[in-house]
Amino acid sequence: MSRRRALITGIPGQDGSYLADLLLSKGYEVHGIVRRTAIEDTEHKLKNLRHILGQIHLHVVSLDNVLSMIKLVKDLQPDECYHLAASSFVSYSFEDEISILNNNVNSTHYLLAAIKEFAPHCRVYFAGTSEMFGNAEIEPQDERTPFNPRSIYGISKVASYHLVKNYRQQYGMFACTGILYNHESPRRGYEFVTRKIVSMAVRIKLGLQESLQLGNLDAFRDWGYTPDYVNAMWLMLQADLPDDYVVASGETHSVREFVESAFSYLGLDYQKHVKMDPKLFRPAEKVRLCGNPGKIMEKLNWKRTVTFQEIVKEMIANEMKIQGNG
Ligand code: GDD
Repeated sequence: MSRRRALITGIPGQDGSYLADLLLSKGYEVHGIVRRTAIEDTEHKLKNLRHILGQIHLHVVSLDNVLSMIKLVKDLQPDECYHLAASSFVSYSFEDEISILNNNVNSTHYLLAAIKEFAPHCRVYFAGTSEMFGNAEIEPQDERTPFNPRSIYGISKVASYHLVKNYRQQYGMFACTGILYNHESPRRGYEFVTRKIVSMAVRIKLGLQESLQLGNLDAFRDWGYTPDYVNAMWLMLQADLPDDYVVASGETHSVREFVESAFSYLGLDYQKHVKMDPKLFRPAEKVRLCGNPGKIMEKLNWKRTVTFQEIVKEMIANEMKIQGNG
């Protein structure tokens, strides 16, 4: 039997790289879409893929160019496509709304249209987010909770979710949205709060800086472990029927708790170093998000394997390894 072929958009990111690891371990032929700038600077831009560069196939394709997407899909005939690429840092979406909305929605639309026409057997996963719930009035949120996005990023994801649903219902495509809550790992980008906290806490520990400025310490997030969440993506495409699922830990923790744990693993008292900076607060942010993963646990037998405390510990240990040697 020939190997199953997967195409991942956003493969260099945290999720894309863990998903590539998972699919390789399952015997897939793994293809990924990257920007030209990534190929020109593999050392930095493809650092999450360094250990598997010889085992995957990278294609320089622009997600805003429908013709190049069509050509790739037609030539490659993937069995599964995971659409993870997007501008995903919520704060940037307040600064550059127009291009973020256009790029995030158009890339999803182009990909769905290309697959419908030229590889209709291909199963599609779309990366949705808890930001789609935005200012949700219900807690915990589940698949029936009304969307109420509070950022352009969230709006772009809600629009893409409806495109995915429409292609599933109108054209019978096997297309699913995973509504993923925050998920963290040693490969998390430095702009996100968990990586910012661990990297700065380690710098403080090493005497390289004195203090850390953060936004709202009393924001609550539902934090999970990224390898568990890419497993959920894969499970969705192995199901008998396409559907949408919330992927969450079911627990909510404050940024303050994350800070306190990270600093205490290093033997530090966070109150001596951490300062709240109102400039880092987000406009109209929902400060409490918590998901209910009941549906995916029951229907696809998914479960998380790593706790909040274990995530903090692993991220600190990794950061000590990077900075302690550097
Ligand atoms: N980044 C950042 N920097 N966030 C801060 C800071 C800070 O200095 N101080 C407090 N926060 C708070 C944010 O206001 C937010 O409530 C929380 O920390 C988490 O922020 P991020 O780590 O930037 O993640 P996010 O919740 O905005 O979004 C992440 O998760 C979503 C899924 O729930 C991203 O991965 C999104 O792409 C993803 O969709």
